[in-house]
Amino acid sequence: MTNNRIRCLIIFIVTGLLIFLIVGTIIYLVRRSEHRVVHPDACPRPKQYQTNYDYDYTKNSKEFRNTDSSVDYFQLSLSWSPTFCGGKQNSHNLFQCQHVFGFVVHGLWPSKTKTGRGQSNNIHPRNCRNEPPIPADVIKKYFCLMPSEKLMQDEWEKHGTCYWQKPEDYFEKINYLYSKINIPNNINDILNNGTLGYKSIKQSFIDINPQLKWEEINVMMRKNKLHEVAFCYDLNFNHIKCI
Ligand SMILES: *[C@@H]1O[C@H](CO)[C@@H](O)[C@H](O)[C@H]1NC(C)=O
Repeated sequence: MTNNRIRCLIIFIVTGLLIFLIVGTIIYLVRRSEHRVVHPDACPRPKQYQTNYDYDYTKNSKEFRNTDSSVDYFQLSLSWSPTFCGGKQNSHNLFQCQHVFGFVVHGLWPSKTKTGRGQSNNIHPRNCRNEPPIPADVIKKYFCLMPSEKLMQDEWEKHGTCYWQKPEDYFEKINYLYSKINIPNNINDILNNGTLGYKSIKQSFIDINPQLKWEEINVMMRKNKLHEVAFCYDLNFNHIKCI
């Protein structure tokens, strides 16, 4: 009788522990798969945000509007901030360049598939709508993804308006896609190595992103410096080969 009771107690405890473990694991996995909003403290913040960041493509002679092209795929481009900041700095990127950022989002670009070699980049949809300045709370919410008010506004109007209705939807999609990509923490080591090139950068992404295939990442170097890393998506936002 006593032995039976002990056996019952042990079975009870073991079953309880098992249920606890299983439920805990399920909760953990579900929470992990939910998208993370980029942590608001994940980056330095300006004391005062800029207010003069509106964008008007007609004021730039190199810009144009293209509302005739289809959207066939998307490209998410990450810019390597140290290289970007080694170039021209101005009042709009000063904050980014005075602080330490690794990758920052350059933009999410609704794109048209090229049908022939040598086709120009002008085939992609661009500057689809003129829009008012992005509300300050949206700027603040997504600032760690793109730490420049002007960059956010430019990308929203140049690219976002060709697929999305509201800036919140555009930046939330960027946030979602970006949160699914693990960012290697050894990029500087690779770049400082001297003997390792873009293949090692690609490999470092592959190593920690089992969902990504080699040809689904585009690493762009300029004059031996890391410029951008890009990811391509189909219309359902599944990774695809970058064309
Ligand atoms: C560069 O990378 C190679 C291969 O990983 C490694 O063997 C070598 O020690 C590295 N050199 C430096 C200076 O870090």
